[in-house]
Amino acid sequence: HSKYVAFPPIKKTNRRWPDQVIEKAPTWCAVDLRDGNQALVKPMTVAQKQRMFDLLVKLGFKEIEIGFPAASQPDFDFCRKLIEEQRIPEGVTIQVLTQAREELIERTFEALKGVSRAVVHVYNSTSTVQRQQVFGMDRAGIREIAVNGATLVRDIARGFPDTDWTFEYSPESFTGTELDFAAEVIDAVNDVWRPDNGQKVVINLPATVEMATPNVFADQVEWICDHIRYREHISISVHTHNDRGCAVAAAELAVMAGADRVEGTLMGNGERTGNMDLVTMAMNLYSQGIDPELDLSGMAEIADVVEACTEIQTHPRHPYAGELVFTAFSGSHQDAIRKCLAQREPGRAWNVAYLPIDPSDLGRRYEEVVRINSQSGKGGVAYVLERDYGISLPRWLQIEFSKLVQREAERNGGEMGPDAIHELFRTHYLDV
Ligand code: KIV
Ligand code: ZN
Repeated sequence: HSKYVAFPPIKKTNRRWPDQVIEKAPTWCAVDLRDGNQALVKPMTVAQKQRMFDLLVKLGFKEIEIGFPAASQPDFDFCRKLIEEQRIPEGVTIQVLTQAREELIERTFEALKGVSRAVVHVYNSTSTVQRQQVFGMDRAGIREIAVNGATLVRDIARGFPDTDWTFEYSPESFTGTELDFAAEVIDAVNDVWRPDNGQKVVINLPATVEMATPNVFADQVEWICDHIRYREHISISVHTHNDRGCAVAAAELAVMAGADRVEGTLMGNGERTGNMDLVTMAMNLYSQGIDPELDLSGMAEIADVVEACTEIQTHPRHPYAGELVFTAFSGSHQDAIRKCLAQREPGRAWNVAYLPIDPSDLGRRYEEVVRINSQSGKGGVAYVLERDYGISLPRWLQIEFSKLVQREAERNGGEMGPDAIHELFRTHYLDV
């Protein structure tokens, strides 16, 4: 991917350098099959889950949260199917979510029997609002739930020494939790798990509800990184939601602030306004010359599978994936794109006005770029005639003919396809 160093990151010299740039892809964890699924009007069937899982594997995800097996029978069945039918490829680790409750943790381990590797992701809510209004508990009570959950996870896992276990803990609603209390609970959990003795541990910091600007979230993440024990032995993960529309920005800033790992979903499906969109964040890295370590070159297939599994259409302006994102209607944009494309030299870094990346890197075509409506100018119209019909117009005719196209497009109120443009050209200039 290195040829796409379009705009190398600006290196700052203040005290945070080099943390203010992302230099490498984080570890990704796709939670489409759990957080994405739990937000769907119609949860995925086992067959849809399998299709989504296969896509995620194909794209290169190494950690995939496949469900909440203790809370849902289809999730339990899917987990068993993956394990019994040996459908988890070497190098891929499944992750399952459970609340920090005894019966749920026990059932979770039943779902995981026989698995070679797994992440057991245990959570309880730590925020003030949940503490006071949902659980009616004080800090000590909430910390105890976390510690009891962590202890049970550790003890049951010891009974399955053939499995390579990673333990993950989330202080759910972290963004509404006092930082000192979040650190206290995380430390207490790690005192049980002892990552310094070799236990693999992920501490996941969820913006369960996005409550502030992304820089505030990043500061919270940085504060936790600086104030918890065992930092060097654990992976710090973030899991952002999109309530303020900034989930991707929050995850990016969190990585700059020290996070090692990012959880999200393809196209951002998830609770309420969705989870952090993995496609957008990965392609943002790619467009900055950083290998996202995911293969998103078949964007049409990705959108098809996501739509088939979630029954949610991809927005035509969805970053990188939408049908219209490599399309220019306005004349000045079309003209600039056409000039840049004509000057492209193979092997040189992508540098085309209005197109942040080469559409062909996502399996899209240049031909899709220029479409004509009443706002298009002479450049776009001439481009379409030349591209599709080999007709090259002199400048005076470009000006004249584009006015005709504009009038016709205004009359029919929409887009004019290449055939309609050619027909108009033929009837005006060739049939006389
Ligand atoms: O958003 C959230 O807090 C979650 C947790 C359970 C990790 O999905
Ligand atoms: Zn979530």
